[in-house]
Amino acid sequence: MRLKFIIFYISFPLLIFSQGMKITHGPYLQGMGENGVTVVWTTNNDALSWVELAPAGDDSFYAAERPRFYDYEHGNKNIGKLHRVTLSGLSPGTEYRYRIFSKEMIGYEGYSVTYGKVVASNVFSQKPYTFKTLNRKKERLAFKVVNDIHAQNSNLKSMLGSINKSNTDLVIFNGDMISTVNHEEEIFSAFMDTSVDLFAKEVPIFYARGNHETRGKASPAFFNYFPTNTGEYYYTFQAGPVFFVVLDSGEDKPDSDIEYSGLACFDEYRSRQKTWLESVTSSAEFKDAPFRIVIVHIPPAGSTWHGTKEVADKFVSTLNNARIDVMLCGHTHDYQFISKGEEKNIDFPILINDDETWLDITVDADIVIRQKDMSGKTLHVHTFIPHPGDCIPPQPTR
Ligand SMILES: [Fe+2]
Repeated sequence: MRLKFIIFYISFPLLIFSQGMKITHGPYLQGMGENGVTVVWTTNNDALSWVELAPAGDDSFYAAERPRFYDYEHGNKNIGKLHRVTLSGLSPGTEYRYRIFSKEMIGYEGYSVTYGKVVASNVFSQKPYTFKTLNRKKERLAFKVVNDIHAQNSNLKSMLGSINKSNTDLVIFNGDMISTVNHEEEIFSAFMDTSVDLFAKEVPIFYARGNHETRGKASPAFFNYFPTNTGEYYYTFQAGPVFFVVLDSGEDKPDSDIEYSGLACFDEYRSRQKTWLESVTSSAEFKDAPFRIVIVHIPPAGSTWHGTKEVADKFVSTLNNARIDVMLCGHTHDYQFISKGEEKNIDFPILINDDETWLDITVDADIVIRQKDMSGKTLHVHTFIPHPGDCIPPQPTR
């Protein structure tokens, strides 16, 4: 028995940390919902991948054979270096443990497939990663928002260094986390490796694309790393008492601008998004939620640039009639609060966050937003009470 244990102890790290095949980035959580989530990671070599899922608990991950969820499309398991495994059939507001696996593929000729080593996250000498699904019946929601990080990892660390799964339900990246996406690897060096180190293995990220993520040779591949429940950069999700609408404001200059080299098509894209937004705001889920928060990188006010005007022209009229509690923006690198009615033709408050501050937000009976600097000092507090006639969530006991 003792010999068996020693052999196991020696061989196990070889499986996890084998030379050659490696997990290079991640894992991190995308598209978190009430019944599913997508786990994303990369490896240095081509591999097929899966996730093993276990209920929350103190028993060993080795206590039982765990159900496997594979990375596949159209029935074929995917082979590549980017791995995205969607876990489905989960229960709302429930904690799970997970372990990632990648099996190296060395050769594939005709009917002959040759596999190499298997790498996996460590559940032997470390606790397995965990996550908790969203739950619209949860009385209290705590989340953080950052924007315009522009690859300043040290700023990101200062802002989000203290968050964990106990104090934060989710994190929102509100655009321009990177300046130009020249190579896919830069997604990690610019902000995702830091995010994974800090929280992203266990706290889900929701991404609102900024204008800078649309730029660079690798920008068309950017979405592959941040899949959503709509297959688009614009999507919705409900967490606790909040219905979130995430919009993609696209580029900030006219599509024909010399800077885009003929590659931009954002006017038509925003028009298509407007039609989608109209269907969202007429849905029962949207209307029945206690609170409605819009996330969009470029604000619809404060500038005469084309992108700003497009956001105002194509999104605001729909949102004016939709009892929006607050719109959260970035882009200008300057804090600004525009109260409801302050800006002509905009019937909801807008909070523009600075590039060197972050938003610490809690929602229960009302929405409380604390804008904080990198030392954690609160600079401004904004409170939003429910619209008259809206369902008021019960005050939780603290
Ligand atoms: Fe921007």
